[in-house]
Amino acid sequence: MTLAGYVLSRGCQPVAKALIELWHANESGIYDNSGYKLRGHQFTDAQGRWWFETIVPGSGRTRHFHLNIQRPGGNVLTTQLYFPGEPDNDRDRIFNSTLVLDVRTTSDGKFGRYDFVVA
Ligand SMILES: [Fe+2]
Repeated sequence: MTLAGYVLSRGCQPVAKALIELWHANESGIYDNSGYKLRGHQFTDAQGRWWFETIVPGSGRTRHFHLNIQRPGGNVLTTQLYFPGEPDNDRDRIFNSTLVLDVRTTSDGKFGRYDFVVA
């Protein structure tokens, strides 16, 4: 799937060169803690856009991505993103309904979007 979005300031201006770090489980819900596959980072472009081409993680808990977001010189925001309509969302003790991706199915696979606002 493609995972993408914007990093914006509180004034809704794009934040360029913000760090977006992503890590998540494989299709079986397992993290690779030796080879560190399915981990990586990007920096937002001049329009504040970021994106990753990755896979849909399996559900050890409920399906989720882990992310760190940091604007240049700013604090690190550590958070998670979830999938809409997952049966395990309601059973997950730290699921947060404000952190659900907007997921569309395209001819190129799933496209999940989330925009971050950072101080
Ligand atoms: Fe996790």
